Order: sequence, then structure tokens, then C-alpha cells
Amino acid sequence: MSHTVVVFKSKYGSTAKYAGWIAEESGADLFEVGKVKAEQLHSYQTIVYCGGLYVGGILGFSLIQKNYPKLRDKKLIVVAVGASTPSEKALAQVKAKNFTETMQEKVELFLLRGGLNYPKMNWLDRFLMYLLVKSIQSKKPEERDDDSKGILATYGKVVDFTDRSSIAPVLEAIRK
Ligand SMILES: Cc1cc2nc3c(=O)[nH]c(=O)nc-3n(C[C@H](O)[C@H](O)[C@H](O)COP(=O)(O)O)c2cc1C
Repeated sequence: MSHTVVVFKSKYGSTAKYAGWIAEESGADLFEVGKVKAEQLHSYQTIVYCGGLYVGGILGFSLIQKNYPKLRDKKLIVVAVGASTPSEKALAQVKAKNFTETMQEKVELFLLRGGLNYPKMNWLDRFLMYLLVKSIQSKKPEERDDDSKGILATYGKVVDFTDRSSIAPVLEAIRK
């Protein structure tokens, strides 16, 4: 058994791909949320949680949130996979929405870029993206940021920004 475990939850495959790459490169054990019990996590020194970003929330992250008091002495690394370009601002927003104050001090967070796959989306996700597109369209073109422009340009299509080389800082955090 490895000292490191990667646990992930993914809806459309981007996060699953990153979790697989991280586990492969670090030699970690790999589990999907729902296929691992919280108690099993106690036997690892390092836990890497990977979840897709949905309206700012990290998918499946309640597994860690609920069990955090028992996991707080572990090295905990969180990888959130979203469609937006990773930035300091986005990092701060994801931390504020998903981490308690103690977690903000102790847990390392990385943002990686996934994609958007409209043909695969369920109706609710497609509807939420439709509302997002409408709200972007209601702004003046000069007020739209690059991510918003990207959402308009790729609406209804398949876009994949996953990049194996972008896991390097996560692997470094596991090693150090
Ligand atoms: C309804 C909906 C909400 C989303 N919200 C966010 C978000 O808040 N931030 C972000 O960066 N990406 C957001 N995305 C994009 C997903 O994070 C992106 O598709 C990611 O690759 C999903 O990972 P998964 O395929 O592993 O589920 C959203 C996508 C959908 C469909």
C-alpha cells in the first residue's frame, strides 16, 4: 500500500483524467468517491482530493469536509478542476467557498483546467450554462473577460484544456 491516496469525483471525465495521471506519476492509490470509506483514508499520510468545480463548489468535497477533524494531521492537497483559467483570484474564491478557516491555513489548493462537453451534459448543467451565457450576453462586449468570451465562443461544443504537464506543481507538493 502506498503512503499517498488520490480520491476524486468527476462528472464528465476531466477530473478523472487528472486524478489518474497524478496517481500514476506519484505511485498513489486511486479511488473514486463512493468507492472508498472515510476510515480507509486514515491509513494514508498524504491525501490528494481532486474534484470538478461546479458553481464554485468542489464536487464531492463533503467527504473531506465532514471528516476533516480526523484528517487534519495528514498532508492534505486539493485539486479543483474547472473550465476557467486558473488565477490567484479564482484560487482565493474557491478557498473561501469550500475551506473552513483552519483548512485555509493547512490545506494546499491547486486549480487545473478541465473543459466543457455540452453534448455529454445533463439537462440541468446545460440549462445552468445557458443562463451563464445569457448573463454574459447581457454585458457590453468590452466588459466581458477572456473566460466569458471563451464561454460564448465555445457554447454548445466540446472543449478540452486538460494538460498532463500542469500536474507538475501537484506532484511537487506530494513529494515535499
Ligand atoms: C453547471 C456548470 C457549472 C460550472 N461551474 C464552474 C465554476 O464555477 N468554475 C469553473 O472554473 N468551471 C466551472 N464549470 C466547468 C467545469 O468545472 C469543467 O467542465 C470541468 O472540466 C468539470 O470537471 P469534470 O469533467 O471532472 O466533472 C462548470 C460547468 C458546469 C456544467
